Amino acid sequence: MDAADLYTRLVDAANGVFGSHPGHRALHAKGTWCEGRFTATPEAARLSRAAHLQGEPIPALVRFSNASGDPESHDAARDGRGMAVKLRLPEGGDTDILATSAPTFVARTPEDFLELMHRRRPDPESGEPDLERLGEYLQAHPEAIPSIQAVLGAEPPASFATLVYHSPHAFRLVAGTGDGTWVRYRWQPEAGDQHIPDEEARARGRDYLREELAERLAGGQAAFDLLLQRAGEDDPLDDPTAPWTEDGEAVAAGRLELHDVADDPESVSGDPVVFDPTRIADGIELSNDPILHARQHAYSVSIERRSPRPS
Ligand code: HEM
Repeated sequence: MDAADLYTRLVDAANGVFGSHPGHRALHAKGTWCEGRFTATPEAARLSRAAHLQGEPIPALVRFSNASGDPESHDAARDGRGMAVKLRLPEGGDTDILATSAPTFVARTPEDFLELMHRRRPDPESGEPDLERLGEYLQAHPEAIPSIQAVLGAEPPASFATLVYHSPHAFRLVAGTGDGTWVRYRWQPEAGDQHIPDEEARARGRDYLREELAERLAGGQAAFDLLLQRAGEDDPLDDPTAPWTEDGEAVAAGRLELHDVADDPESVSGDPVVFDPTRIADGIELSNDPILHARQHAYSVSIERRSPRPS
């Protein structure tokens, strides 16, 4: 299989699990947009020369999502949640940080992720995946289990603003001196990590997360701290399924304040908004994680398919 084929197949496989929904993302299809502001700490500026980490407050565009590829998914579902953040660089341009509620990812390589999605595909008659085939995969790939447990084991969130969101990839922060520090990002909610029972979430209605956030922001703001977890000596830099050792405090790199729920900018302008984890600024470098590098290409396939065709 050539590389282009792999990315197309990844998006086809996501459609196989969740259905094809023209005009929508193949994954994380249902989203809520917010506007806010990000301010980096002096510690972040010491670790990286990146323009958004120097401490000047900058505008941020945020999209919260359910991981499902179904744009009408119920917010009460036991599902991962996404938080995609676009930071506007002071001199122009953007940089993106994408995170989800699962501390680690489900696959080590795009090929494994493809196989897992094929095995998750619901049987057309029963509407359920073949549990035996899924079980075989998990036996051969125990590294997938923590991520699946984290998603299925967590009760629905009380709010998009009460979840911890993790980026499972390693990035290298490069200081003005040239010194490098390998880190993983995490957004820690100021309101704390809060969940509600499944029945209560069901009763709140299909779109309760968007409604709750709109209400919360109408009455004030929500905030997240950007935390940096430094890599320990034996922590792998290229394996998003592997938890890192939690010795030592995470470094607070900045604070994100959300002020308003925004209209979907894609329906307003007709242009797709693209969040890409490899869109980094000078002062930040990518690891060799094969999942990180596959993402931009698979996202391009999804973006191409959801973009309006010229008439
Ligand atoms: C090879 C592995 C992966 C594949 C194939 C994949 C695929 C996709 C696709 C097709 C989209 C929709 C893109 C668009 O139309 O704009 C998407 C969105 C997203 N993915 Fe992934 N993904 C992968 C790994 C990850 C990982 C490791 C994370 C963890 C941070 C993640 C977090 C997200 C988030 C937060 C969004 C929503 C972005 C938005 O709101 O626009 N994905 N993914």
